[in-house]
Order: sequence, then structure tokens, then C-alpha cells
Amino acid sequence: MYSEKVMDHFNNPRNVGEIENASGVGTVGNAKCGDIMRMYLDIDENGVINEAKFKTFGCGAAVATSSMATELVKGKTVEEAMKVTNKAVMEALDGLPPVKVHCSLLAEEAIHAALWDYSQKNNIVIDGLKKPVEDIEELD
Ligand code: FES
Repeated sequence: MYSEKVMDHFNNPRNVGEIENASGVGTVGNAKCGDIMRMYLDIDENGVINEAKFKTFGCGAAVATSSMATELVKGKTVEEAMKVTNKAVMEALDGLPPVKVHCSLLAEEAIHAALWDYSQKNNIVIDGLKKPVEDIEELD
């Protein structure tokens, strides 16, 4: 049912944890299943993401997609990170079963929420980025 890559990222998730004084932090939740994902980004003065970490309280697919999402945004500029959609994350994982596609949306939303936080703190506008629908704090 799950690709080898999904299993690998589920069993050995990359970049789990927190970043102290992160440039941007975003927390999103899936109202249907109650799963929560928090993304931390460390962004340098050139707008390049040097580090990305996550904490996910959720299903295996949510863990695997957050892990892959952090791997994909690392080293990218903020603008490039905007192109890391849930589709891109799923492709990098060699797909997800149809019933698990919504889990990958959390990863995209978490990236956007963290970028939004960064944009607000630095007073900048990131093309195509909208205010996240919800920002929850339940992992505190
Ligand atoms: Fe909730 Fe996967 S079932 S994110």
C-alpha cells in the first residue's frame, strides 16, 4: 500500500525537532482527523532556508510527508519553497494511497504557515502566499 520511500521516511523521519529562535514557525491541523503538524524554518539574510525541522502529531503519512517536505525546502529560497506543493511532496515519496492524499496537504500548509510567520516578522511580501486559515497552538 505504501511506497518504500514513504515507509523509509515514516520509520526514519528526517529533521524531527524544533529550531530555537526560528525565522518562521507554522502550526496547522487537519480538522477531520485531528492531526497536527508544526514546521520550523531557519532562513538567512538572503532568503535561503538553511534549516527546516518539524514535529508532527499524526498518522504515518503525515509524518512521512513532513519529513520529505523539510528535506525538499532545505537549501531553497523562500520563493522556491512556495513551489513545494503537496503534489511535489507526494511525487518525491513515489505517491500516497488516495485516502491519504489529504495528509500531504498538511505539509504544504505547514510550509506556508511557517513562511507566513517569517514574512510577518520581517515585513515582507512573498508572492502567492496567503494568511493561513488556521494557526493552532496545541503542541505547546
Ligand atoms: Fe490525519 Fe493523515 S490521517 S493527517
